Amino acid sequence: MTAPGPGTLPTVQFRTGEGTIDLGWGHPHPSALPVDAWAEATEAALRRYGASALAYGHPTGPGPLIEWLCGRLGEVDGAAPDPGQTFVTAGASHALDLIASILCRPGDVVLVDSPTYHLALRVIADHRVDIVPAPVDADGIDPAATAELVRAIVRQGRRVPMLYLVPTFNNPTGRSLSAQRRSALVAAAQRAGVTLVEDDTYRELAYPAPAPASLFSGSEVGAVVRIGSFAKSVAPGLRLGWLNAAAPVVEALAARGYVDSGGGVNHTNALTLAEFAASGAYRRHVEAIRSRYRRQRDALVTAVRRDLPQAGFTVPAGGWFLWLRLPAPGGGTELLPYAEAAGVSYVPGRRFFVADTGHHHLRLSFSLFDPATLAAGVRRLGEAYRVAGMAAGATTPPG
Ligand SMILES: Cc1ncc(COP(=O)(O)O)c(C=O)c1O
Repeated sequence: MTAPGPGTLPTVQFRTGEGTIDLGWGHPHPSALPVDAWAEATEAALRRYGASALAYGHPTGPGPLIEWLCGRLGEVDGAAPDPGQTFVTAGASHALDLIASILCRPGDVVLVDSPTYHLALRVIADHRVDIVPAPVDADGIDPAATAELVRAIVRQGRRVPMLYLVPTFNNPTGRSLSAQRRSALVAAAQRAGVTLVEDDTYRELAYPAPAPASLFSGSEVGAVVRIGSFAKSVAPGLRLGWLNAAAPVVEALAARGYVDSGGGVNHTNALTLAEFAASGAYRRHVEAIRSRYRRQRDALVTAVRRDLPQAGFTVPAGGWFLWLRLPAPGGGTELLPYAEAAGVSYVPGRRFFVADTGHHHLRLSFSLFDPATLAAGVRRLGEAYRVAGMAAGATTPPG
């Protein structure tokens, strides 16, 4: 057998389809990825740390990154976490997988927000638990009804170790829980003995900053585990993130066999990020992408108001997504084949729920395209809406 030649095997996870404006991808705009600044940081990290940049890393992550990260969170959140409450991970998805592996046993019930990040549902499901939506009202998770649900599940002899949510610039809705809901939820979860797993992936993408204070920063140690990521603030390919949890949880993670064997996760990239931060490049980069994504958000909002005025939505104050509600029941699901025939795509709302619901909705991402392309995509979506005859309540999908 001959080895494949250079350039014949795939390099990246996804490619967008030729000719389709795919508003489904929650991926960064390519020119928002800091290629040159990262090259400089790589060289600087190798010069500063020498061979130790390429050695096995410290179990919880390299000190320079953890020190800087805790300080940064002190600036962009309600309080700085303690370095002893910090564990560097290979991204937020990895952090979620790790914390689920510590907290959950097969057959447990894990509660989730609705709607919520659809791929987190996959990560949680890998732990062979039952995923149950927490009760919600118009303001998000309902703390009293959630506590009641937990009591009912526990009465059946089952454990409810954790509740996963994205309270700040939720994926897919872009909305954030109010301060009052945050404290009521923390109190209710603590009383019910449920750990809140707070996915804080979009904290840095606030338009305008600052984002609301996290559940983690406003609660007693042990009530909340916060997971974070550099995927949106710097680059997803780094596979770099962290979690903040009570020190015994961090110690348990650091004592796991794979850390004992392989050292801290993603050590060389972690040290490079520390250098990227120390040089001021992180701060400059986040400021630049905040204004870029804010412009892209505004372009998408303007286009939807103009070309799809039937859609209801709240303008998100952060993150990457616009969550549309179409008047026709099933609109978000049924429009998709018409949209794809018109050369545009999106994620149907149904994907973000555990139950068979959400068919009114669809998620558009404004992260991947410049304003002109976003406008062209929504023009196609408006055209698809007319062809589908949704206002008249039609339809047989095309092709
Ligand atoms: C809420 C949320 N959490 C986690 C992730 C993935 O983060 P990472 O790439 O760090 O695993 C995403 C990416 O879309 C996300 O939207």
